[in-house]
Amino acid sequence: MMPHVEPLVARSVRLAIPEFENDAPDLAKDARSYVRQELEHHKQHATFNERIITVHPGMAKIDRLLGWSFERLGRRSLAFRLAFAAGFETVAYSGARWTDDRLHKLFDDADPVASTLFLWHLAEEIEHKTVAFDVFAIYAEKVRFAKLRQLSGLVTAAVMLSMFALIGTWALMIAQRSFFSPRAHANLIRWSLSFIFEVMPLMAVSLLPSHHPRTLTDPAWMAQWLANFNEATGQIPIWNDLTWSAIEAPRQADSGPVPESGWLEGNRVLNEFDPLTQEPSGVSRVDDLLDLEELRRSVR
Ligand SMILES: [Fe+2]
Ligand SMILES: [Fe+2]
Repeated sequence: MMPHVEPLVARSVRLAIPEFENDAPDLAKDARSYVRQELEHHKQHATFNERIITVHPGMAKIDRLLGWSFERLGRRSLAFRLAFAAGFETVAYSGARWTDDRLHKLFDDADPVASTLFLWHLAEEIEHKTVAFDVFAIYAEKVRFAKLRQLSGLVTAAVMLSMFALIGTWALMIAQRSFFSPRAHANLIRWSLSFIFEVMPLMAVSLLPSHHPRTLTDPAWMAQWLANFNEATGQIPIWNDLTWSAIEAPRQADSGPVPESGWLEGNRVLNEFDPLTQEPSGVSRVDDLLDLEELRRSVR
């Protein structure tokens, strides 16, 4: 769905920038970088989809359906599209938090390249979690029924993303001959329900007048991983790759003494430590990496 939905949100935000550029130059700068990020996601996901379609040509029909649906959505008013973009980011952020809690369960045996694509994307969704919200908020000052528009953009985003995620998953299950596997359906139901319980409270909170996404506590791991992006080579480590032991984590330099064990002790900690279920006592390395008090105060 990403090659179709992300150009829509990126185009809408880009179109709105001249409207507030003079009043909020910092937001305009962030919005431009947001647009660049989303268009890069779109490009990489389009390449990935082409590969999927080469292997499973039947998926092309779903790709066309997605293209048609989001093209229709792109004909709505700019205010609606910006509300949709803000709602889409809320759902994407929930997706990142939901995934972060299940990293190993979902990805340990998965294809590393697909997993890296998916997780890199989610990590950047966390990075720009406030931009679409702010762009809609500043644009909404000029339009009537802003709250109603926000609600309709949010609900449309949640319904479309869930519906197409389900259709895409079923289609791939058929293509991979696992559609009649009870275990696959049990996982799908379990994961769908847990995702609904992640996304619904956040959707409700995001409609409160006092809400701003900056108050949400980010998942810990993804930001750490993004810090390993190598600007010189334009590469990021394959998720959970052991070669991480050779990588210096930029954040360590800022956070006091570098622990004796290298960064990839961080990877070991990651494997063994779930900040939401385990006590910090006796895990000194984790104290270096994570602000456990802040995690406890998280909106969860
Ligand atoms: Fe994205
Ligand atoms: Fe995004």
